[in-house]
Amino acid sequence: MTVRRVAIGGVFFVTVLIAAVLAREGRDAQPLPGPPLRALAAQRGIAIGTAVRGIEQRNNRAYRELIAEQFSSVTPENEMKWYALEPDRGRFTYNYADMVVDSARKAGQQVRGHALVWFDQLPRWLIGLGSDELRAATENHIRQVMGHYAGRVGVWDVVNEAILDHGGLRRSPFLDKLGPGYIGEAFKIAHAADPKAKLFINEIGAEGINAKSDRLYEIARGLKASGAPIDGVGFQAHLNLRGVPATFVDNMRRFEALGLEIHITEADVALRLPVTAGKLRGQAGVYRRIVDDCLAVKACKSLTFWGFTDGRSWIPETQPGMGAATLLDEQLKPKPAFFSVQRALGG
Ligand code: XIL
Repeated sequence: MTVRRVAIGGVFFVTVLIAAVLAREGRDAQPLPGPPLRALAAQRGIAIGTAVRGIEQRNNRAYRELIAEQFSSVTPENEMKWYALEPDRGRFTYNYADMVVDSARKAGQQVRGHALVWFDQLPRWLIGLGSDELRAATENHIRQVMGHYAGRVGVWDVVNEAILDHGGLRRSPFLDKLGPGYIGEAFKIAHAADPKAKLFINEIGAEGINAKSDRLYEIARGLKASGAPIDGVGFQAHLNLRGVPATFVDNMRRFEALGLEIHITEADVALRLPVTAGKLRGQAGVYRRIVDDCLAVKACKSLTFWGFTDGRSWIPETQPGMGAATLLDEQLKPKPAFFSVQRALGG
């Protein structure tokens, strides 16, 4: 090979490399107008958060920049679930979750750990365990994970979605094999694993006063009464154009009266596709109510959206015909909902 050929080959190689990096990283984010949500939220005394996808955060520059700029709290969307952290019994894989946590530290953000004990996204090995084995595995999982993140993850959803809509306890390996006491046990283990972490029970569809939130209230009250180390309750707030239940504020207040902190943990507002201007306006109104309701309750200290761009949201991925549930469109452009949240926070 001649020197010339080597040189051309080298230039070609470098060009391909740069193109590959650019393709992976994408462009800088178009700046969003107005003050960042995290600055506005700080003035109102609350954290403002988003669910984060670790791989996307690593590979997509604009996505990464917007998370750092706009939010003061992050929740790994799937990276801290049991199947992700302990795919084989006793073998822990922290790499993706660690990426999200490291980025959060650099951006001065809190991390909500999600979720330790949940019926869904469990590894297969756990399903067949007998009760003694499951109890040991659960204790070990909570200890290992919270120990690994002690001092770095300040809040944990210890128990997630434990209740059915009619108020009964949801069947899971934990309920089936450990009995209803598994909830209290999980909180005790979690507190021992990291005494400084704030421990939450998190629920879906319990925003209004209804059979499910009544049961959640009874559980929370029982835990408090028995001295269990519970700090707060999370309301997911996966909503749609039916809006925020009229009793959300009253509901939050009864939990506040128990001495619990309140977080809105997974807010989004799903639309039936196709999107229209009218639906986007309606969605902006629902988002405004979510912010207003949190600000109306002193104990509501954190509001997390379940993703911030329609291009990276679980709604179209899991609910056919629905989508466009977040603040920014697929091109990371602000939707009416974004401006509505900004204004509701005082911007
Ligand atoms: C969802 C994720 O967003 C999806 O990517 C995943 O496929 C399924 O789980 N309640 C919860 C969250 O507590 O963990 C769920 O997240 C959404 C509903």
